[in-house]
Amino acid sequence: MAMYLLLLLTAVSEVEATFRPRQLSPCRVEEMDVYCNNVNLKQIPSELPPGFHKLDLSENLLQNITLELLPFKDSVQQLDLHSNKIQFIQPGLFQHMDNLEVLDISRNFLDVFAQSKTEIGPLPSIKTLDLSGNNLYTGMTVYFLHDAPALRNLSLSGNSITKIEANTFSGSLALSNIDLHNNVVLEIEDGAFESLQNLSELNLSMNSITCITDFNLSQLKLLNLSKNSIESFHTAELDKEYDLLYLDLSENKLLYFPELPKRNRLMYLDLSRNIIQGVITGADENDYISYGWFKATNQPLNRTLLDNGVPFTNLSSLLYLDMSYNEIKSIPVEFFSSMGSLEFLNLSNNCLESFTSSSSSSLNSLATLDLNFNALRNLSFAENTLWALKQLYLKGNNLQILAPDTFTNLHSIQVIDLQENHMSVCGWYPRLSNWGSTVQEADCVSFIGIPTLRYLYLSSNAMRSLPQYAFRQTPLLLLDLSKNPGIEVNSKAFSGLESSLMYLSLNGNNLPALNPDLSLLASLKNLNLSGNLLTGLPPWSKDSPLEVLDLRNNVLISLQYNVVLVLEKTLKTLYLAGNRLSCCSNPRFLHMVQKSVIDIPDIDSVTCQYVKNSEYTEISILRVAQDECDQQDVRSISIIITITTALALTVVLVVLSKYCHQRRLRPEGSYKA
Ligand SMILES: *[C@@H]1O[C@H](CO)[C@@H](O)[C@H](O)[C@H]1NC(C)=O
Ligand SMILES: *[C@@H]1O[C@H](CO)[C@@H](O)[C@H](O)[C@H]1NC(C)=O
Ligand SMILES: *[C@@H]1O[C@H](CO)[C@@H](O)[C@H](O)[C@H]1NC(C)=O
Ligand SMILES: *[C@@H]1O[C@H](CO)[C@@H](O)[C@H](O)[C@H]1NC(C)=O
Ligand SMILES: *[C@@H]1O[C@H](CO)[C@@H](O)[C@H](O)[C@H]1NC(C)=O
Ligand SMILES: *[C@@H]1O[C@H](CO)[C@@H](O)[C@H](O)[C@H]1NC(C)=O
Ligand SMILES: *[C@@H]1O[C@H](CO)[C@@H](O)[C@H](O)[C@H]1NC(C)=O
Ligand SMILES: *[C@@H]1O[C@H](CO)[C@@H](O)[C@H](O)[C@H]1NC(C)=O
Ligand SMILES: *[C@@H]1O[C@H](CO)[C@@H](O)[C@H](O)[C@H]1NC(C)=O
Ligand SMILES: *[C@@H]1O[C@H](CO)[C@@H](O)[C@H](O)[C@H]1NC(C)=O
Ligand SMILES: *[C@@H]1O[C@H](CO)[C@@H](O)[C@H](O)[C@H]1NC(C)=O
Repeated sequence: MAMYLLLLLTAVSEVEATFRPRQLSPCRVEEMDVYCNNVNLKQIPSELPPGFHKLDLSENLLQNITLELLPFKDSVQQLDLHSNKIQFIQPGLFQHMDNLEVLDISRNFLDVFAQSKTEIGPLPSIKTLDLSGNNLYTGMTVYFLHDAPALRNLSLSGNSITKIEANTFSGSLALSNIDLHNNVVLEIEDGAFESLQNLSELNLSMNSITCITDFNLSQLKLLNLSKNSIESFHTAELDKEYDLLYLDLSENKLLYFPELPKRNRLMYLDLSRNIIQGVITGADENDYISYGWFKATNQPLNRTLLDNGVPFTNLSSLLYLDMSYNEIKSIPVEFFSSMGSLEFLNLSNNCLESFTSSSSSSLNSLATLDLNFNALRNLSFAENTLWALKQLYLKGNNLQILAPDTFTNLHSIQVIDLQENHMSVCGWYPRLSNWGSTVQEADCVSFIGIPTLRYLYLSSNAMRSLPQYAFRQTPLLLLDLSKNPGIEVNSKAFSGLESSLMYLSLNGNNLPALNPDLSLLASLKNLNLSGNLLTGLPPWSKDSPLEVLDLRNNVLISLQYNVVLVLEKTLKTLYLAGNRLSCCSNPRFLHMVQKSVIDIPDIDSVTCQYVKNSEYTEISILRVAQDECDQQDVRSISIIITITTALALTVVLVVLSKYCHQRRLRPEGSYKA
């Protein structure tokens, strides 16, 4: 052992010896890259291998960057100096670094350098420059950018810039991406960005801009203005085509729909979390319908509508429109008339009372429509609209009375979320009409015959009943009927779902028993029966593939032997807490809980009751010992024997006494003829 250790030590020191001469600095060399990050360097190491491409000196204690870098001026392409304490850079240092393309000096103290009013010198080849987190304020950037002809990507995020001056970028005309996220920009001088022909992405998110007037940057592809205080967005009235693809105006204070470029290719528009009240704001003097964006500057602009009352802004390229978290009360169908490409529309968390699609709304590419958390009472989808709609979210509205065929007209629908409404579901009665007779079921909506529908959420609808064949010819994969306390589920309610249904939730329904035989659902893998009043499970089909079963918070005493036998075969996870289990009534059940491979995640809080010294005791089911139950069994058997014996004795006695009595009576008895 000691020998072995000694050998090992020798080996280690030999290795060290061979490498020490090369171990010139605390840096790590990987191919052409040198990493000296996070090693408390106060100076740039003097001995670095020649010819490297990347030098990482980040997270050290460097203060002054002077001429130590010059020996590598020809090879270095990428220099990372972020998170040091740099306050001085030798002017002209980068002038001769002909290959330096990426320079990261973020999170330093370059405000100190800028205060000296010294220019950093020409940055002839730098394409990407990160100056974020340097406490730079207005007027300071010019010392870094005055001569950066190759600069494409610039980050100035996390500084304290309040004004973008007209000359800010006059030394860096090749810029294509500018990140000004998280500054305090209040003002942008005319011409600050206009001269940047190749400007494509501009991030002004998290600033203090209050309005955009005469938006004129037709070269931009992405404009991020989220998290400002913008009240209005107004495009210069130009006839030129704008390249803008992404416009993020989320988390502002917009009162009206923005006034967008007339000729645009906009694909993505995020207006969420503003205070837009409607796309119509009322009729103006000319009796036009006046759309919000006409009034962005508070005076009705003289802009004409198309003949049919459609606003001119043609959003025919728009794919994504998010207007969630606004205060929109109504939207006319014409609003969508140009949006033939729209795939995603989010109107959740507004105040809409109705939503209509008609053939003129042309939302025929729409795949996702989110109308969650509005005040919808009325919903109507004309036939032959919303051809592509796959996901429809209607949670948290006031939907109660809809045309029965509201959803059956949606030809591609896969998901319908109707949680937290007041819907009733129609049944199917072979001899009557398609969906229930009006006598039996008034005001229901049908889910019969929707072959594409897979996911249906109907929880918290105060549903009173679920009639028979409610999902006939609609091969649901998931059905959530939870939190409809008191719902009466017809025994044939799930007929038709036998081969498709995999997830069924019936939790929180106060069901005293299961009417439909759920074990006939031959694909059911996940069944949630928590929060009911079940005392047991009915006999379970042995072909059931059930994997997850939630039985929490019922009044179960035990599970029957044959049910346990079936479940043990396929079940992977079982939840049992919050029942009135009896510890000893069923040894097979106890064995399943304690020993089998079924995972019972809440096992630590599963308790059961048993009688000890003629008192009910509740203990953790894990602590029940089989022999205790056996003793109890013995005890109860002996009680039973005693009682049986006593009973038998009584009977014998009674019979005997009767017999004796009769015997006694017979001699004196009368003989009946
Ligand atoms: C950095 O440079 C400043 C000004 O040139 C000088 O005052 C300071 O001593 C230098 N600090 C170090 C650590 O070299
Ligand atoms: C600039 O940033 C964009 C993404 O923001 C990236 O796609 C592009 O490659 C970068 N250009 C350079 C020269 O680093
Ligand atoms: C803009 O980009 C084009 C093509 O990449 C290039 O030819 C032109 O020089 C760039 N403009 C400026 C001002 O750098
Ligand atoms: C738009 O920007 C151009 C420069 O690109 C400028 O000449 C013109 O005056 C601007 N127009 C408006 C309406 O601001
Ligand atoms: C600024 O926005 C651009 C594009 O929107 C994004 O790529 C970038 O990460 C944002 N910057 C920050 C600091 O969030
Ligand atoms: C805009 O910037 C924010 C960061 O503030 C980011 O979360 C968001 O994704 C960006 N938007 C777009 C469209 O890139
Ligand atoms: C609005 O413009 C139309 C045609 O462009 C013109 O005939 C009309 O007089 C203008 N109305 C006002 C109030 O300026
Ligand atoms: C909108 O623009 C598209 C393509 O640019 C065009 O085909 C369509 O006719 C326009 N719609 C209206 C209503 O002007
Ligand atoms: C709609 O927007 C809300 C809030 O911004 C978000 O939570 C929800 O996920 C969005 N809907 C969809 C379908 O993405
Ligand atoms: C639903 O809309 C129709 C016509 O749009 C209207 O007649 C009806 O009163 C509305 N119903 C409710 C409950 O608002
Ligand atoms: C069953 O439903 C309850 C209530 O919604 C939920 O807390 C629980 O996680 C569900 N069980 C399973 C296994 O998903």
